[in-house]
Amino acid sequence: MLGASRRWRAEGRSIGLVPTMGALHAGHMRLVETARGENDVVVVSLFINPMQFGPNEDLDRYPRDWDRDAKMLQEAEVDAVYRPTAAEMYPPGASTRVHVRGVTDGLEGAARPRHFEGVATVVTKLLAAVAPDRAYFGQKDAQQVAVVNRLARDLDLGVEIRVVPTVREPDGLALSSRNVYLGPEERKAARSISAALREAAAAYSSGERDPVRLRARIAARLTLEPLVHLEYAELVDPATFQKPGTLAVIAARVGKTRLIDNHDVTKPFPG
Ligand code: PAF
Repeated sequence: MLGASRRWRAEGRSIGLVPTMGALHAGHMRLVETARGENDVVVVSLFINPMQFGPNEDLDRYPRDWDRDAKMLQEAEVDAVYRPTAAEMYPPGASTRVHVRGVTDGLEGAARPRHFEGVATVVTKLLAAVAPDRAYFGQKDAQQVAVVNRLARDLDLGVEIRVVPTVREPDGLALSSRNVYLGPEERKAARSISAALREAAAAYSSGERDPVRLRARIAARLTLEPLVHLEYAELVDPATFQKPGTLAVIAARVGKTRLIDNHDVTKPFPG
């Protein structure tokens, strides 16, 4: 991959990288479109990174549909797809891990120990392999965005991290590859996550500034829905992920499916 990048660079062409784990949806395609508008060359990586899944997580059942992904990427006219195998990514003896301190301590970092070490390690390797000018991440994974921003800055990677707004279903549910796990009743119940964020933003715009009360509103909205089990709701600073802040972040289980979402309550909720 690096050879192709060097050629593009020698030709004076800018490179945008969209890292994904496949199972592409409109949220990924928005990243691709944004990259297309800002770069001469667009590379999409597809790699289900075993290092970022915990032992009891969904690595084995994570959705995989390479033919469909390939077709979508072809239609979007991406210039190259980088699809390393796990053995290429982590050859025997590979023992280096990238650990970003602080921002990874709480919330997703606490719920999914070593998840962000897996993300930071693979993102560092993808950036090294493709050497893009810009790399594109979705706002839905807000803590991942904070980790990647910190990583790129601390390691002087010379890549611009671009963050693209969350794409939502018409009823507000954030697009996620994991939404396919939801049964029909769970899918209906999952609406309450974005509804809670919408209500928090409305409360903020009506003058509520107390993060404890904003958090309580979110929790109250989610407890109305018996199929939804709230793991956490907090208001954090988007760069440090420390409290307090104005980014409302939620993780909830809907049946067996764990979903996350977030919204900056100082802004109107979209739609
Ligand atoms: O957001 C994702 O899909 C993954 O965490 C990423 C950034 C591709 C790293 O595996």
